Amino acid sequence: MNTDLGDYRKSYEKQELLEKYLSDNPLEVFQKWFHEVDTNFNIGETNAMTISTIGLDGFPKSRVVLLKKFTYEGFIFYTNYESEKGKAIANNPNVCLSFFWAEAERQVIIKGKAEKIAENLSDGYFESRPRGSQLGALVSNQSEIIKNRSVIEKSLKALEEEFEGKDIPRPDFWGGYIVKPVEIEFWQGRPNRLHDRIRYQLNKNFDWIQDRLSP
Ligand SMILES: Cc1cc2nc3c(=O)[nH]c(=O)nc-3n(C[C@H](O)[C@H](O)[C@H](O)COP(=O)(O)O)c2cc1C
Repeated sequence: MNTDLGDYRKSYEKQELLEKYLSDNPLEVFQKWFHEVDTNFNIGETNAMTISTIGLDGFPKSRVVLLKKFTYEGFIFYTNYESEKGKAIANNPNVCLSFFWAEAERQVIIKGKAEKIAENLSDGYFESRPRGSQLGALVSNQSEIIKNRSVIEKSLKALEEEFEGKDIPRPDFWGGYIVKPVEIEFWQGRPNRLHDRIRYQLNKNFDWIQDRLSP
């Protein structure tokens, strides 16, 4: 196979990221960008983000999860704590989140430390999920090998019968993580590959230091 993509080329011309737009706190910049992108561009899932972890095998691994909340403290997503990513985080909490909002020609890259959120917060979010998603979380030993699809379909049917008319409890192995950022980079595509890159890093006094990076 030989697929040459050399002439796939796009000029980024829609927006700019200048210092006058920035706040001292990058979470506020993230909030502005998120709402602008969500409101002004037709993006399927603005809250879809890639999370990279360092696995037990020493390799980084990236996959998409959904951002469900962000505050000044960090970025929250939900998953199976015993999944491959859950085991990776237990071994090494350093993770990287990234968003690529192609239509807005924007990228955000966040380095941070992941930690489990309080159980009552995971309970609250689990209760708010549709019943099908709750059962799905119960059924799936995420990242484990299964013989075939009917294994999970049978398991789903059995659980539907077991919990008919009853509330579904959150399983201990499922819940949220918060990623507390130590570095956030905002990337805005610009013409001639001279993109705007603004990086914030948390220093020892927990102040955010802001720098412009060469594209
Ligand atoms: C758009 C999209 C959203 C997803 N959202 C989540 C999510 O919020 N939580 C989750 O555990 N997996 C989510 N997944 C599935 C993950 O990408 C991944 O397959 C799963 O978490 C298992 O990853 P692991 O085996 O590396 O732990 C999503 C996938 C896509 C494409």
